[in-house]
Amino acid sequence: MKAKRVLVLAALVFFLIQCAAAQRNTLNSSSEWSALRRLRSSLGLRARDWPIKADPCRNWTGIECREGRVTVISVSGLRRSRVGRMNPRFAVDALANLTLLETFNASGFLLPGSIPESFGYGLPGLRVLDLRSCAVNGAIPSSLGSLSRLKYLYLSDNSLTGNIASSLGQLNELLVLDLSRNFLTGSIPASFSMMSKLSTLDLSSNFISGTVPAGLGSIFSLLVLNLSDNSLTASIPGELGNLSRLVELDLSKNSFSGALPVELGGLRSLKGMRIGSSGLEGQLPEGFFSGLAQLEVVVLSENKLDGRIPSEVWSFPGLRLIDISANNFTGELPSTGLNGNVTQAIFNFSNNMLYGSLNSSIRFFNLTDLSGNFFQGKVSDDSRRNATLDRNCLQVLPDQRSSADCKLFYSERGLQFDDFGASGPTDSPSQVSASKKNRRRVYILIGVFGGLALSVVMVVILVLLLRKCCNKGIPDQGGIADKGPAPDGDGQMVPKEPSELSGLGDVFSYEQLAHVTSEFSESNLIKHGHSGDLYQGILENGTIVVIKRVDLHSFDRESYIRELEIFGKISHTRFVPLLGHCFEHEHEKLLVYKYMPNGDLASSFYRATDLEDESLQSLDWITRLKIATGAAEALSYLHHECNPPLVHRGVASFVKNECSVPHCMLYFPTRADKTATAYVLS
Ligand SMILES: *[C@@H]1O[C@H](CO)[C@@H](O)[C@H](O)[C@H]1NC(C)=O
Ligand SMILES: *[C@@H]1O[C@H](CO)[C@@H](O)[C@H](O)[C@H]1NC(C)=O
Ligand SMILES: *[C@@H]1O[C@H](CO)[C@@H](O)[C@H](O)[C@H]1NC(C)=O
Ligand SMILES: *[C@@H]1O[C@H](CO)[C@@H](O)[C@H](O)[C@H]1NC(C)=O
Ligand SMILES: *[C@@H]1O[C@H](CO)[C@@H](O)[C@H](O)[C@H]1NC(C)=O
Ligand SMILES: *[C@@H]1O[C@H](CO)[C@@H](O)[C@H](O)[C@H]1NC(C)=O
Ligand SMILES: *[C@@H]1O[C@H](CO)[C@@H](O)[C@H](O)[C@H]1NC(C)=O
Ligand SMILES: *[C@@H]1O[C@H](CO)[C@@H](O)[C@H](O)[C@H]1NC(C)=O
Ligand SMILES: *[C@@H]1O[C@H](CO)[C@@H](O)[C@H](O)[C@H]1NC(C)=O
Ligand SMILES: *[C@@H]1O[C@H](CO)[C@@H](O)[C@H](O)[C@H]1NC(C)=O
Ligand SMILES: *[C@@H]1O[C@H](CO)[C@@H](O)[C@H](O)[C@H]1NC(C)=O
Ligand SMILES: *[C@@H]1O[C@H](CO)[C@@H](O)[C@H](O)[C@H]1NC(C)=O
Repeated sequence: MKAKRVLVLAALVFFLIQCAAAQRNTLNSSSEWSALRRLRSSLGLRARDWPIKADPCRNWTGIECREGRVTVISVSGLRRSRVGRMNPRFAVDALANLTLLETFNASGFLLPGSIPESFGYGLPGLRVLDLRSCAVNGAIPSSLGSLSRLKYLYLSDNSLTGNIASSLGQLNELLVLDLSRNFLTGSIPASFSMMSKLSTLDLSSNFISGTVPAGLGSIFSLLVLNLSDNSLTASIPGELGNLSRLVELDLSKNSFSGALPVELGGLRSLKGMRIGSSGLEGQLPEGFFSGLAQLEVVVLSENKLDGRIPSEVWSFPGLRLIDISANNFTGELPSTGLNGNVTQAIFNFSNNMLYGSLNSSIRFFNLTDLSGNFFQGKVSDDSRRNATLDRNCLQVLPDQRSSADCKLFYSERGLQFDDFGASGPTDSPSQVSASKKNRRRVYILIGVFGGLALSVVMVVILVLLLRKCCNKGIPDQGGIADKGPAPDGDGQMVPKEPSELSGLGDVFSYEQLAHVTSEFSESNLIKHGHSGDLYQGILENGTIVVIKRVDLHSFDRESYIRELEIFGKISHTRFVPLLGHCFEHEHEKLLVYKYMPNGDLASSFYRATDLEDESLQSLDWITRLKIATGAAEALSYLHHECNPPLVHRGVASFVKNECSVPHCMLYFPTRADKTATAYVLS
């Protein structure tokens, strides 16, 4: 027995020594020698890394051999020679002569160009192909499906386009398929379901459309499935719930419809479920998560999910993060029964429709974001340490919703609202009469103080009026008639000349402006606008301006006033700045805008490249993108940031003059910073 064991041990040692020797062997195949030399020159590698005179197996960086034959080539991390840098290409034909090659790793080594169709046919022994971040472009050649021994295929972070070759499904030895962060289109080939050994499938950040093939649910070996950031549609197939070994599921940023299939409750090994921003709707049935005992991270944010939060969420043993923000979840948080481990987790429940009291539950949490809900009641200081609580209906705290919003929410659901402490939601019958008395007392107090406040306000107004009248003796035309800026949002008011001129720039005299436009001559006329004529002029200080002359005999007074009001409010870099005005004449008003030297957008877009005039070349795509971004910023400002939001109608360009409706916008590219500015014209 002992002798036998010694023999086995000796054999093992011998084998190990053999292996070590093989590792250190020298290249003894002349065809491989020449193939490596060809590869060296086609990739332009440096003599420092691949010294031409030395033995590749022993002295070339990234080369490994077995029995005198090359099995591994890794050019990852190598640099090209100066000559090699001049024309980097996907030039690796020589690999086909290395018939025992198992690994080709060029991760991070630039190989611009497309993978030739022949690539897959010459490398029957290839097990590992790593072309991450190689600047490879073009389509994935279907010949890759012939690399029948391939186990690892990494093509991520390139510029691959076109459909995913369905032949890849033939790679039935494949363990990892990573095509993420490319420009792939088309749908996920149904043939993928045949890759029965696959453990990682990453197709994220492409432009893949269509449905998720139900067949993916039969790749039982799958550990990681990442289809995020694509354009996948329809519902998530319930078959995915059969992936009982799956650890990471990322389906976020897609355009799915329908509910989260209950079958996903079968993902027994799942640790990370990320399905945010993916168009999910409907409810999560109670018990949905109960089979998912391993869950650590759940992200379902920015969907349209509603209903209640399944209660088992509160007892996950390993939970680290649950983000269900920006949905329509409703209900109360549990006040007891939280698992001790849950308190370690980060909870993001913001922007839902959760309500009820937080007094007892919140102190169980470590970090919570509960903002944008309808929680009510008081929260003690020490329990809100790690919580974000703004935009709720909570007492005492700042930045809460308006009482009206909260009341509406609670009354719509037939719930009792404490009205920020004005009334208790849980008045016991014995307390009712007392609280009624209290309420009456509150009303009386409100009456008394309200009356007092009103009188104070009136006195203040009187004093102000008196001061205004007595200040300069005679009030000027605009004075009392225009009393103060009208409160925002009062659209029904008959527009008057805005007395608040601070937003309207400098005051110019009529003569001054007539002078700079050569008495409003035809040669200075830019165009007859919808609401006034536009003239170009140069001020004394050299500033080129556009002067808009509004003749109130022929133009609508209202729209002109509205234009002024808008400019009184707008201050944003994306809008052509209003430099000043002249209101001297009763029926002729002048507005002075900065001149945008590069013409309008329409002519820039449609202009063909003009070799004679370099400044007027048609726009490149980067510029166009910047203009689109600029226009979007301007629109976003009008819609969301200025208060009240501005309603404009058409969005039009200058020359084509589609401005037949008030408040259309014009965009001018300014070449200096290659961005766009918008101009609101009424
Ligand atoms: C290398 O491979 C090509 C094509 O497979 C073949 O034509 C050529 O003869 C080979 N070169 C050597 C040196 O074996
Ligand atoms: C090649 O590497 C061996 C050790 O692996 C070393 O002894 C030898 O000098 C190297 N040869 C050259 C030309 O660098
Ligand atoms: C190359 O060397 C290995 C061992 O280093 C040996 O087994 C093999 O027979 C050699 N092949 C040729 C063609 O010399
Ligand atoms: C390829 O090389 C890089 C850098 O050495 C390494 O990080 C990566 O893991 C390698 N790829 C494979 C599949 O081993
Ligand atoms: C899925 O892919 C995206 C983009 O490639 C990446 O940001 C994300 O972390 C991946 N998800 C997982 C769970 O690894
Ligand atoms: C996979 O799940 C579906 C329903 O989700 C079920 O009908 C089917 O039998 C399952 N397939 C296997 C092989 O378990
Ligand atoms: C939530 O529900 C309300 C109506 O109940 C709906 O108006 C709103 O769009 C929904 N929000 C989301 C994010 O689905
Ligand atoms: C908390 O987690 C640990 C390990 O994750 C587990 O052993 C323990 O049972 C959990 N505690 C509870 C109360 O579930
Ligand atoms: C919660 O999610 C929202 C987006 O839905 C995000 O803005 C916020 O920062 C998150 N809160 C925390 C504490 O991470
Ligand atoms: C709270 O969460 C942070 C970040 O996840 C973690 O580092 C910390 O240990 C947690 N603290 C408690 C008391 O759970
Ligand atoms: C929390 O508030 C609810 C209702 O407001 C009340 O029934 C409960 O007793 C309070 N719990 C604690 C611990 O204060
Ligand atoms: C939560 O509050 C505790 C006590 O103030 C603090 O130690 C802990 O760091 C906080 N956690 C986070 C994530 O801020």
